[in-house]
Amino acid sequence: MSAQLIDGNALSAQLRADVARRAAALKARGLTPGLAVVLVGDNPASQVYVRNKVKACQDNGLHSVLEQYPASLSEAELLARVDALNRDPAIHGILVQLPLPAHIDAQKVIEAISPDKDVDGFHVASAGALMVGQPGFWPCTPYGCMKMLESIGYKLRGKHAVVIGRSNIVGKPMALMLLQKNATVTICHSATPDLKAMTLQADVVVAAVGKRNVLTADMVKPGAVVIDVGMNRNEEGKLCGDVDFAGVKEVASYITPVPGGVGPMTITMLLVNTLEAAERAAG
Ligand code: GUN
Repeated sequence: MSAQLIDGNALSAQLRADVARRAAALKARGLTPGLAVVLVGDNPASQVYVRNKVKACQDNGLHSVLEQYPASLSEAELLARVDALNRDPAIHGILVQLPLPAHIDAQKVIEAISPDKDVDGFHVASAGALMVGQPGFWPCTPYGCMKMLESIGYKLRGKHAVVIGRSNIVGKPMALMLLQKNATVTICHSATPDLKAMTLQADVVVAAVGKRNVLTADMVKPGAVVIDVGMNRNEEGKLCGDVDFAGVKEVASYITPVPGGVGPMTITMLLVNTLEAAERAAG
């Protein structure tokens, strides 16, 4: 058996078309949704990510501003920029690209962003809202994974979901979103003694570690749904995920590819969050 692909590009195209339609409706009311993307330093991967984010805004009718600063920018200067963006009525979403240079306290900067503009969903207020099931912005990558499960009509209630990885950006919020949909959730991480024993029980596996071949075919229950959040390079420099795609696709019922899976969904959900921030601002 070969698993069906959950196509992140196709789903993104659908969701982005809806964003563009809603952005046009807001514009007709005199309000253009605006995203500010702040990049400090010259991390090449971050430069690619922020360019893609800004381009996605432009392509879908959102206003975007890219602020680029040298790595020498002080924490106080960055906090002052965040404060100015918090007050800017043309900006509905603020994204400070991570990682930040070591001399800047990233958590302090994230906490300086107004929760109303926290379209990354990284503020403690956003994390707390997700934990207690209150409205707030959800982190884009796990939010995109939930949309992918929704797109195949997957019913999480009563299912066992295993999340591999416990980051604040993906693993932890992913687990909370799955729990909110009434899945039984297990979070595995580097100190989990027998990962395979856990994943073999899973109806859904989300791999979010950042390491190749964390999930291989022998670790997957036949018919399970596999979501691959990983973004790694193999020996030939080719983009690959955390999942041994060739092997696992023969066991799973659905699988997300890398590239073309979760990656495009992350930017799509950033557009969705920015649009929602603007819609809330419009009342
Ligand atoms: N660095 C890697 N992924 C992300 C993301 O989703 N948001 C921000 N702000 N920084 C990142």
